[in-house]
Amino acid sequence: MSESRDPRRSARAARRRRAIVGVVLGSALAVMAAWAIVAVVVATTMPDSAPSNPPPTLVTITPTDAPSAAPSVTPVAPTPSPAAFNKAAHSTTDPTSIWVVVDKIRPIPDAENYVPPDLVSTPDGIPNSHGHPLRQATSDAIVELFAAAKADAGFQLVIASGYRTYAGQQFAYNGYVSSLGQAGADATSARPGFSEHQTGMAVDILDTASGCGVEGACFGNAPAGQWLAANAWRYGFILRYPEDKTPVTGYEYEPWHFRYVGTELAAEMHRTGVTTLEEFFGLPAAPTY
Ligand code: DAL
Ligand code: ZN
Repeated sequence: MSESRDPRRSARAARRRRAIVGVVLGSALAVMAAWAIVAVVVATTMPDSAPSNPPPTLVTITPTDAPSAAPSVTPVAPTPSPAAFNKAAHSTTDPTSIWVVVDKIRPIPDAENYVPPDLVSTPDGIPNSHGHPLRQATSDAIVELFAAAKADAGFQLVIASGYRTYAGQQFAYNGYVSSLGQAGADATSARPGFSEHQTGMAVDILDTASGCGVEGACFGNAPAGQWLAANAWRYGFILRYPEDKTPVTGYEYEPWHFRYVGTELAAEMHRTGVTTLEEFFGLPAAPTY
């Protein structure tokens, strides 16, 4: 039977339809109201250009005279840790500085006239083949180094060369040129004015047992040479011409040549594994003159 034929059924059906329409319209209005609230909240809390995940960066907000301008934001560089190593603590150009870098492109200024301050004879009990003096701090560190080598490992170390004058370096270099030619000499001997030995802070060290001299890799393979390579940093010395750094230093491996740079720098180079002064201070490699 159709609704039109039963007025009571038709009225009930009409009420059901009105109820359904009311529920649908009410739900729709509720959803729209919720979206409107979300949109207002988002619009009032996030600037248009804000990234969804802004990085946690420290900023300063600089006030501006123009009231309508957006505040300018300046990134702040991170503050160095107080423990950070200060590579500018000493000069790398002053020949009296414990951090001076002397190499094939960094000669000693006015080398022909330069004599280091506070040169001293090394104390009795320190074997010193040619009696070369050293600067005071270098001599003091040698005393400690030699004592440790003897106490820790039973090695008797020997100074084979220390401070050399400009004229002394010229004599040594010319001797190498005579025997090896200029290219051979330049691979193992500094030209006068270009030698760390003239600073009074370079020391050639051998020992009494190995039988090695200041040539080749012999001392690097000897127990005393290996002990020195591993421990000299504790006393402020670095192995200045490592086996794998000829392209940086311009010199062949010299397992006997140690340079006093002080315990602070020697320890930092040991800690970081950087083995040449050129690399540590970001200076150009010096393979040639
Ligand atoms: N043997 C080093 C490079 C010097 O002559 O100073
Ligand atoms: Zn040397």
